[in-house]
Amino acid sequence: MGSEQLLEALAIDIAREAGELARRRRTEGVAIAATKSSIADIVTDADREVEELIRRRLRVERPGDGFLGEESAAERATTGVTWVVDPIDGTVNYAYGIPAYAVSIAAVAGEPEPARWEALAGAVFSPATGETFHAARGAGAWLDGVRLAVNAEPSPAGALLATGFGYDPATHAGDLARVARVMPLARDLRRIGSASLDLAYVAAGRLDGYFERGLAPWDHAAGALLVAEAGGRFVRVDMDDNPVRALFVASGPAIFDSLFAAALGP
Ligand code: IPD
Repeated sequence: MGSEQLLEALAIDIAREAGELARRRRTEGVAIAATKSSIADIVTDADREVEELIRRRLRVERPGDGFLGEESAAERATTGVTWVVDPIDGTVNYAYGIPAYAVSIAAVAGEPEPARWEALAGAVFSPATGETFHAARGAGAWLDGVRLAVNAEPSPAGALLATGFGYDPATHAGDLARVARVMPLARDLRRIGSASLDLAYVAAGRLDGYFERGLAPWDHAAGALLVAEAGGRFVRVDMDDNPVRALFVASGPAIFDSLFAAALGP
């Protein structure tokens, strides 16, 4: 087993344990603990507890690795490897009882910044379905042992696409204009509410493509590797109007250029 696959195995194991805790806490009831970047951007006690579990396990199994998680302070690596973690991606779904949420864990090499890191391994675990999407660099993307491939071509009816919207209401008009530009390519559009699942679904051919502005590193670290290892394309592009809100596009190669051009706009 290559070292990437050892990291992948660890990501899978921890994601499943963490997801089981999230699922259990959900059945006990969820309280919103705080709001973050805006009143719509929430964190629950479960997000914090699940991240703490992941952090604790990584500290024991991979001392010296760095940590970049959604809910707690970052820690720099002394080994060159950083774990990028979203304990509950799809927190709003989770809070409302919609079962589209996931634990996303990736190991990356180099500087812990999306534009500079190289993803080594990742796992996205969906507690509601029990599915684990996982990948290691150069070793393919998998769903519970079945190899994944992006869709070669969308159907003649058009592409099944997904997107997301930021928590800041000031960005909604721009996001809706992007949706209007992309819709001529689409047979339909999903807003699933969990970016890591959107990307896992592109890798699995459940979606033809996905686009969104303003993802955080932990939203896409594992999912982007899944897409690439399933034969798809993923880009992150800085935008002049608001550099904090990069544009992300993922799809199979056949529709990538047209999807990217429409999402980017004039
Ligand atoms: C969010 C989800 C959502 C996406 C947002 C993310 P969170 O992550 O992935 O689908 O549209 O951009 O912030 O806050 O639930 O971890």
